[in-house]
Amino acid sequence: MPQSPQTAAPLGVLAFAGSLRAGSYNRALLRAAQELAPEDLSLTLFDLIEVPLYNGDVEAAGDPPAVAAFKAAIAAADGVLIATPEYNHGVPGVTKNAIDWASRPPREAPLGGKPVAIIGASPGATGTARGQSQLRQAFEFTNSFAMPQPELLVFRAHEKFDEAGRLTDEATRRYLKSFLEAFAAWIRRFA
Ligand code: FNR
Repeated sequence: MPQSPQTAAPLGVLAFAGSLRAGSYNRALLRAAQELAPEDLSLTLFDLIEVPLYNGDVEAAGDPPAVAAFKAAIAAADGVLIATPEYNHGVPGVTKNAIDWASRPPREAPLGGKPVAIIGASPGATGTARGQSQLRQAFEFTNSFAMPQPELLVFRAHEKFDEAGRLTDEATRRYLKSFLEAFAAWIRRFA
């Protein structure tokens, strides 16, 4: 019998930001997502600070501990939420590097068959639109299910977070909440 969202098992989502800086808007956006997630969706944040640049020689010798932990966390999750900045109209290396590690080995990669959602924040006017669009292409190769809609583009981010990194813009908070509800429904499609 189909389960309603109220009675279905809670969903575990692994979330990471493609930025390493402490004051990152994208990390702050994920903290807001933790706060605003629906009851049936639990977000765990993974910090990429210890994940090295992808190197096939290092991989052949065995995944470094941070990479192994990252891949295991994705494998155990029901879905993956990525908050990516945009650098020079594209995906920053930090985001892409994480995807590259998690795309290995090709047929047994933790990203394979995984529901994914992309969000992003930038002080600019387009709120990571180009970076998000480019990132979607990677999920064609990893065979991951990137949620097509809704999209969450947090533009003029410097006006939407306070000094402590709390998302204070009410419209963005409401939209983030409905985005997470949509992602929970998206994940359940693949259960
Ligand atoms: C940027 N930034 C930026 N912003 C944007 O909207 N479009 C862009 O193409 C770029 N390009 C870009 C290149 C480089 C090298 C840097 C360092 C920055 C600005 C960027 O959005 C801003 O630094 C964000 O604050 C980065 O995200 P976090 O670290 O706050 O999560």
